[in-house]
Amino acid sequence: MTPFKGLVLGIETSCDETSASLLDGHTVLTNVVSSQADLHRKWGGVVPEAAARAHVEAIVPVVSEAIGSARPDGIAVTNRPGLVGALSVGTTAAKALSMSWGVPFVGVHHIEGHVLSVFLEGVGPSLPYLCLVVSGGHTELVIVRGVGDYELVGQTIDDAAGEAFDKGARLLGLGYPGGYAVQNAAIGGDPHRYKLPRSLKSDPFNFSFSGLKTAVLRMVEAEQVEVNDAAASLQAAIVDVLAEKSARAIDQFGFKSFALVGGVAANLSLRERLHSECERAGVSFHVPKPEFCTDNAAMIAMAGSFRLASGERDGASLDVFPNSPLPGTA
Ligand code: KG4
Ligand code: ZN
Repeated sequence: MTPFKGLVLGIETSCDETSASLLDGHTVLTNVVSSQADLHRKWGGVVPEAAARAHVEAIVPVVSEAIGSARPDGIAVTNRPGLVGALSVGTTAAKALSMSWGVPFVGVHHIEGHVLSVFLEGVGPSLPYLCLVVSGGHTELVIVRGVGDYELVGQTIDDAAGEAFDKGARLLGLGYPGGYAVQNAAIGGDPHRYKLPRSLKSDPFNFSFSGLKTAVLRMVEAEQVEVNDAAASLQAAIVDVLAEKSARAIDQFGFKSFALVGGVAANLSLRERLHSECERAGVSFHVPKPEFCTDNAAMIAMAGSFRLASGERDGASLDVFPNSPLPGTA
């Protein structure tokens, strides 16, 4: 896992965060994130048109703040998957900067950025490692053998873990974005107060969270819930399922390292639980700092850095894609 020699500018605009980061090897020099959460809160979710417009407004100041007076030697930009209008803003900026500076650029798969985020600020796990990706749109167990060499072991058959947090938060009146709100409301709450389902128990590595959302809806319709206990019960239901299936995969595949990545990896309860599962199994546990779990350009710069180092280059014809499998798993 050799990074690119020189400074890499990362650009991330796939959803509702405009982010730019400057990376030197594994060292994050800057990581600027401009969140659109306030903009989308009134709608209770991301509105694609509004997101694209907000990226247009933010991209120049965010990139300028990230690079300061430095001149990057390479650029990495998220070009898939995500909202097409949003992705286009970052990709167009990357192409323009690449041309005007005369430096190479590569398009990066957003989930590959999360998967490789454990290499930020350190040497990272030994290969191969098992990786649980938990974000707003993805819940996947992946074997990572190298850059672009991934094997999908399991995934959600319906909602992602982040969606379960977000939809549950909305039903509990905890607002948007939901994950962090549920985590805070769960502090001091009783996780055993409300019985919520742990679905798809019989399937070893696939996940299902849509039944949990329905159960939370029934719960709030049936009675006036105590919100801290309800948040704690919801968090425990999500964490239990993620931890049990991860532990099963850790034991079955026998790799020496396990990585927890994606926005939901910022969740303290999940971090603690998987840390102890790894300790039990004698496996080293890797999780990025919370700021590198939620969407950020540093992880895109890291993934792009590995690709640039191996000689990969993209050109002006690079396209953006709303849906795209993780490279190497198609
Ligand atoms: O990776 P990410 O920032 O964006 C996507 O690629 O989707 O993940 C966003 C998701 C949201 O569903 C958000 O509620 C969740 O990560 N999240 C959390 C926490 N912080 C963010 N979920 C649980 N606990 C948190 N502390
Ligand atoms: Zn993400």
